[in-house]
Amino acid sequence: SKAEIGLIGLGTMGAALALNIADNGFDIAVWNRTTEKTKQFHADAGALADRITPTESLEELVAAIAKPRAIILMVPAGRAVDDQITALRALLDDDDLIIDAGNANFHDTNRRARDAGDLPFLGIGVSGGEEGARFGPSIMGGGKRAYWDRVAHILTAISAKHEGTPCATWMGEEGAGHFVKAVHNGIEYADMQMIAETYGIMRDGLDMTDAQIADVFAKWDKGPLKSYLIEISGKVAGAIDPKTNKPMLDVIVDAAGQKGTGRWTVIEAQHLAAPVPAIEAAVVARNLSSQRDMRAKGEGLFGTAPHHIPHDNLGTETLESALIAGKILCYAQGFDMISKASEAFGWALPLPAIAKVWREGCIIRSAMLDDMADALATDADGNLMFAPHFADHLKQHHGALRQVVAQAALHGIALPALSSGLAYFDAMRTARGTANMIQGQRDFFGAHGFERIDGGSDQHGPWGS
Ligand code: 6PG
Repeated sequence: SKAEIGLIGLGTMGAALALNIADNGFDIAVWNRTTEKTKQFHADAGALADRITPTESLEELVAAIAKPRAIILMVPAGRAVDDQITALRALLDDDDLIIDAGNANFHDTNRRARDAGDLPFLGIGVSGGEEGARFGPSIMGGGKRAYWDRVAHILTAISAKHEGTPCATWMGEEGAGHFVKAVHNGIEYADMQMIAETYGIMRDGLDMTDAQIADVFAKWDKGPLKSYLIEISGKVAGAIDPKTNKPMLDVIVDAAGQKGTGRWTVIEAQHLAAPVPAIEAAVVARNLSSQRDMRAKGEGLFGTAPHHIPHDNLGTETLESALIAGKILCYAQGFDMISKASEAFGWALPLPAIAKVWREGCIIRSAMLDDMADALATDADGNLMFAPHFADHLKQHHGALRQVVAQAALHGIALPALSSGLAYFDAMRTARGTANMIQGQRDFFGAHGFERIDGGSDQHGPWGS
């Protein structure tokens, strides 16, 4: 009998996803550009091999799938996707569905959906790394709802579950799924950066060992910060390098890599005029981290900062509290960006459903997302930071964030994401800001006009000449 679905691209993620599909009882046909890889994959599939049809050409792949066909692409984002779609379309029937499940830029997905016209196409964001892809990722779908419905039974079956609810949801038309995945990655960057900043305070400010830091993360993972990223940060801090017997963190170069999804998010946020300073700070921090020579030069020139923070000034409880506040503010920014995009693109993105889809399977999964889903369901139009539950949290924790940012500033420890989170908080609770000065300046040098507080737009000041 023919396979229910096909998959192209047996890299790490593609292979894991194919095994997950087979493991959930669906027959799947697979193809990879190099046949050797396909054969190896099939040979390694063990008990699942019976459900997998390895194929050696695109023609063979297409012939192995039941009609109307559905084929998942797991090839590198960019040109490879377009090339693969072109090659595949030539062999497919008009009602066959192509699903791009790679990390596509959502603008590309928008374009591909439009180019596809009446030919079925979906762009889905898949999060969770290799482990997630194999045993249950979080899936964010985009494209025509009817196409999603065609494969929803497979995608929900293979997805992560939160208390039985599948973490696989249709987000909207065209690139909506990949857009939501991009914001996920932006939040992922900011969440990781804030955790790294607390590590920096413990290491440089509080002179703690990696083992002690690992214990603190492990403890935090039992409280409000419980999340995959805190859990793995504890494991990273606790790991020992088998080669040198030193803590792993001491042998890893402090220059962060990035494939670009965080950058896409920040660029898009600027287009949308959506303020996401914590996410921007996280991308900037990665960029800056790779300027290692410059940083070494700076240290030579200005000397090291007086890092040591007296323990009386700051303890790890305060740090935990600060991270809780920072995390809420970062998510508030991400969700605000999603609602702005929803309006700008006419997508009606389901905010509470997005929080729900992120509860399990993805990299940013955390206990807090459960409460966020509830908060957004009752207060979806506002900002997450104003939802009663999170407003209470912020009232309780922003003082700690302030303490941490202040102590770090006094002792020369850079906290780009946490401090921008604090600035966002303070700006968002300042009814009378300082942009009146900006407007005055703009009118002064360019006669750009301003609005008067007592009524009247396009006003000008008595600046003289
Ligand atoms: C996920 C991740 C994943 C991402 C990697 C690497 O949700 O599974 O977001 O899609 O590609 O985490 O991202 P960077 O190389 O940009 O750090």
